[in-house]
Amino acid sequence: MKLKWTMAIVATSVLLTACNQAQTEKENTNSKETHSMMHTKQNGAMDHEQKKLQNNTGENTLTFPAVLQPDAKKGNHVTYTITAQTGKSELFKGHQTETFGYNGSLLGQTLRLEEGQDVTIHLKNKLKEATTFHWHGLEVSGDADGGPHKLIEAGGEQTIHFKVTQQAATLWYHPHPMGNTAQQVYKGLAGLLYIDDMKSKALDIPKTYGEDDFPIILQDRTFTKDQQLVYKDVANIDGTYGDTMMINGVVNAALHTDKKLVRLRILNGSNARNYHVHFDQNIAFTQIATDGGFLETPKKMSDLLLGAGERAEILVDFSKVKGNSLNLVDQDGTVLMPIQLSKNVVTSSATTKLNTINTDEKLYEQEASKVVKMEGMGENVTINGQKFDENRIDFTQKQGATEVWEIENAITDEGGMIHPFHIHGTQFQVLSINGEKPEASLQGYKDTITLQPGQKAKIAVTFPYKGTYMFHCHILEHEDNGMMGQIQVK
Ligand code: C2O
Ligand code: CU
Ligand code: CU
Repeated sequence: MKLKWTMAIVATSVLLTACNQAQTEKENTNSKETHSMMHTKQNGAMDHEQKKLQNNTGENTLTFPAVLQPDAKKGNHVTYTITAQTGKSELFKGHQTETFGYNGSLLGQTLRLEEGQDVTIHLKNKLKEATTFHWHGLEVSGDADGGPHKLIEAGGEQTIHFKVTQQAATLWYHPHPMGNTAQQVYKGLAGLLYIDDMKSKALDIPKTYGEDDFPIILQDRTFTKDQQLVYKDVANIDGTYGDTMMINGVVNAALHTDKKLVRLRILNGSNARNYHVHFDQNIAFTQIATDGGFLETPKKMSDLLLGAGERAEILVDFSKVKGNSLNLVDQDGTVLMPIQLSKNVVTSSATTKLNTINTDEKLYEQEASKVVKMEGMGENVTINGQKFDENRIDFTQKQGATEVWEIENAITDEGGMIHPFHIHGTQFQVLSINGEKPEASLQGYKDTITLQPGQKAKIAVTFPYKGTYMFHCHILEHEDNGMMGQIQVK
């Protein structure tokens, strides 16, 4: 942690001279938060303002997406249908907001798969625009991955098949059409994809969906005066931020529970915002899983950074809470989610040994064979100096081979900002950050890593399947702007 802040502070002070006075004060009083946005333009004016998030008032009760039911299930084989569609949602009493959803008007139902299953999914596009169905974090062939090449036109359909061969994890699905991902996610296209396995089913941790095991999809949105999500009115080339917290598609939602120990599966499903989640009242929490599976043991955390696209599973024990409420808060104290406890708290337990993660020691010494340099802001975002070109293959790698990739978030004359780096079709391991052992929250399997300006990560990447996969910044507007490359796995 320390190293991160030091790097960012160096970057901040370089930039301060170019910033206006108001921004300077803001940066001084809130130094950590500003790491995510350190923009300057030659003329000294701050550009691409980050909208302030309002406290979640908790006036609505948090609900949980339904679990998607299969069309058919025969032994090991399951078939589902997922339809992208438009709809209307009552996000504010008495008002209909036009939204996008999967099999519903907003967000998607939770797809629960098991390791070893053979899966067929019928994909239907009932939107008036082209889309794709991407399985973020799922290890599948490039053909089933739903990148920008797999466009389904309005009214079109596709069927995909894959086998689930990875361990228990909290993944998600969302669209990926080139240049239009941010808008479609903003309007509501995103769903959770859980994988269960023998081990996860046997673990002594909260695991009853919606009762003590809660999906928490964090999204910030800005509504127009007539309660609409008009992307073009709020779109920001450097990442679209909202002032209103929406969790699981519920605006200003509070979690109500009578459990003493709960598991929160947090997905940062925002277009761009980073969250440094923790609880007020100094309530401790432990992280049990990263993007791609369980950590070896629960790790006590005081503050957890989640960049766009990342997930973390945490356990929270409410027995030390004074009164009957507490808040999940962001770095600066902004209330992300109020939690209301009813008096009869039910006790539950939790195991300590969660997983075994084997890392080949040799990888720590291995030279990087691929270098990814993320640079720039606004329209100037690039990877290795280039914009995405669907006719250009940037890298190749052998199926099943493990290579060390070096990912750099470079500081340029313009400054720098956080970029969450994501690779399709693989769960990688973080070997080091700026040459040092990664912090606990990065010691499990990851598909997205949030890097501060100036940070360099080494990661070990293996693709279990073949095909063409994307790697990109998960600020959706950066991705749409070409901060993306592709790798062919042969
Ligand atoms: Cu979650 Cu290529 O994306
Ligand atoms: Cu992805
Ligand atoms: Cu970026």
